[in-house]
Amino acid sequence: MPALASENSARIVIGRERRSDVAAREDLLDAAFGPTRFEKTSERLREGRRPARGLAFVARQGGQLVGTLRLWPVVTATGHTGLLLGPLAVAADARCHGIGAALMWQALYKAKTLGHRAILLVGDAAYYNRFGFSAEKTGALRMPGPNERARLLACELVPEALSGARGVISAAPSRLSQLVQQVSPLRHIHCATTEPAAS
Ligand SMILES: CC(C)(COP(=O)(O)OP(=O)(O)OC[C@H]1O[C@@H](n2cnc3c(N)ncnc32)[C@H](O)[C@@H]1OP(=O)(O)O)[C@@H](O)C(=O)NCCC(=O)NCCS
Repeated sequence: MPALASENSARIVIGRERRSDVAAREDLLDAAFGPTRFEKTSERLREGRRPARGLAFVARQGGQLVGTLRLWPVVTATGHTGLLLGPLAVAADARCHGIGAALMWQALYKAKTLGHRAILLVGDAAYYNRFGFSAEKTGALRMPGPNERARLLACELVPEALSGARGVISAAPSRLSQLVQQVSPLRHIHCATTEPAAS
């Protein structure tokens, strides 16, 4: 996994989130977004779910968690599948050393490698433009609640992956859940425990 240098002497390493990171990640998100973070519309697509398989990242420096980024399977009303990116946060005293960018590039690379077609997010275009995100393909898409239209951004990992995408974005089952549903002789029974742990 990639390593960065900062003014702090310890190297910054980007890696997969582990179960033992959860408390530090939640503390970091509380500090970055405050207690109202659970009121965001994006949270409606994350609550009670696990991130997409292999797509929960952290940045560590000297054994301390200094950055977090996760991605979540979503689908549009027109059946276009993709990932919702976020939340992205870096510890206040570790910002502007490229950790946010390193998390973003790792997430984009890994999502493409895993065969995902597109990534959506709600955020500042001024930050996310540099990673290839824009509102060009999101004009006909809606989050499942209030949000500023100009902040709904997308990046296609496969050309034209979002062409014709319209309507409300909703949470999609993980690929593993879909596979189990397809091959299981008991597929009429809803399988609620097939999403992998973020590790
Ligand atoms: C946004 C955030 C993740 C960036 O992390 P980071 O490690 O500092 O990012 P990088 O070092 O890769 O990039 C820093 C650059 O992005 C800029 N930047 C940060 N937030 C920005 C924003 N909202 N809009 C435009 N530019 C932004 C910084 O000014 C800096 O610019 P510079 O390179 O010209 O100095 C971090 O500032 C953060 O955690 N903020 C609070 C949570 C948040 O807003 N998350 C994003 C949700 S939309």
